[in-house]
Amino acid sequence: MEEKYLAAEEKVKKYGQDHLLSQYNKLTEEKKAQLLNEILTLDFQQIEELYKRINTTVDFNNSKIEPINYTDKSSLSEQELKKYEEIGLKQIKEGKLAVVTMAGGQGTRLGHNGPKGTFDIGLDSHKPIFEILCDTLKNAQKKYGIYVTWYIMTSAENNGDTVKFFEEHNYFGYPKDKVIFFIQGKLPMINPNGKILIGKDGLIKQAADGHGGIFLSMKKNGIIYDMKTRGVEWVFIGGVDNVLVNMVDPVLLGLATDKKMLAAGKSVVKAGPQEKVGVFCKRNGKPSVVEYSEISPEMAEATDKNGELIYGESHILCNLFHIEAIEKISKNTLPYHSAFKKAEYIDENGNLISSDKPNAYKFEAFLFDAFETLNDMAILRVKREEEFAPVKNAEGEDSPETARKLYKEFHKIK
Ligand code: UD1
Repeated sequence: MEEKYLAAEEKVKKYGQDHLLSQYNKLTEEKKAQLLNEILTLDFQQIEELYKRINTTVDFNNSKIEPINYTDKSSLSEQELKKYEEIGLKQIKEGKLAVVTMAGGQGTRLGHNGPKGTFDIGLDSHKPIFEILCDTLKNAQKKYGIYVTWYIMTSAENNGDTVKFFEEHNYFGYPKDKVIFFIQGKLPMINPNGKILIGKDGLIKQAADGHGGIFLSMKKNGIIYDMKTRGVEWVFIGGVDNVLVNMVDPVLLGLATDKKMLAAGKSVVKAGPQEKVGVFCKRNGKPSVVEYSEISPEMAEATDKNGELIYGESHILCNLFHIEAIEKISKNTLPYHSAFKKAEYIDENGNLISSDKPNAYKFEAFLFDAFETLNDMAILRVKREEEFAPVKNAEGEDSPETARKLYKEFHKIK
């Protein structure tokens, strides 16, 4: 232990993070060992690099941004629709499709204390979001005669609660061996001076590293391998917060296969320039998404001669990847975006600091930054009222109330 302590001390000193050991003496033996391990395994160099770039914004000036081509599902002829459906159906029935739900986020905006998937949006049935999503898989089983394997990405913060919830609800009647959890990566939070925060438990304060970490964590957790042994070729990856997510869609699969693409994404028409959604585009000839937090007002408001938004294909976090694409993407780390957030932490004098204003940086990779690794992808424009009912905020737009309304209308429930 002594030796380990000295090695950890040398490391934190080297990177100007000595305060990380300031609470060491107050910790239990177990926590002491844990903290030393955290320090010895942490990539401090990476944290320094991330800190240097906290204020860098996306450089659109050196990028050629253009609208992306898409296929509008409602404009497809019956024949085309049938063709895509048949191609997709065949693969689904052969067990070549798996789905992943990204459920590692914290749901802070929703004000729900627990994993977002455990949230009850207020249907008469009081089904939690996880059960609503599971219903789509059970329906798919009825239609296609196959239980699609459901992978659920959690985070270190919510994995225990998530698994417990599934156990308590008997996996909503879905076969337990078809539900597989894996934990996404995490990164330390830092203050505006680049100092790594100490959490309430005396250890390094870490936060989920964004859903872009999915590819790497799929590799590290043996998920890609597991998929391959099950004969999976295509993976639908969606967020946990859309109660109309259509995870098993033969048309999307058929379109990607027919167009010989290694990925496909669904879009809906953006409701207006201010809607909080990312938009699909082409950046330097490669498929890409410009996030709502990073889009310029000019780009958001640009319209064509018919008055329609030029960048109006909203990214709804419903994307499909070929397993080869996932393997390729997982070989590299995606860039991290920084976000200034509220954080509770312990200062070097042992005081608990909380704030009602953002006070620390969190780093997140975005899944859609992976699109640029691919030469092209198919975009399928679908109808918002059929496939997009997000639950993001406690009230107002994208709230349980709006999602419930959309859900009931779609399922024709009074
Ligand atoms: C997201 C998209 C945006 C899209 C919108 C559609 C991002 C950065 N932006 O915005 O382009 O138009 O959804 O609704 O995603 N998650 C994890 N781990 C994490 C972070 C998030 O699993 O570390 C999951 C969440 O549980 C959730 C999903 O990713 O299912 C979306 O994350 P969130 O941060 O809420 O994204 P939005 O800002 O809503």
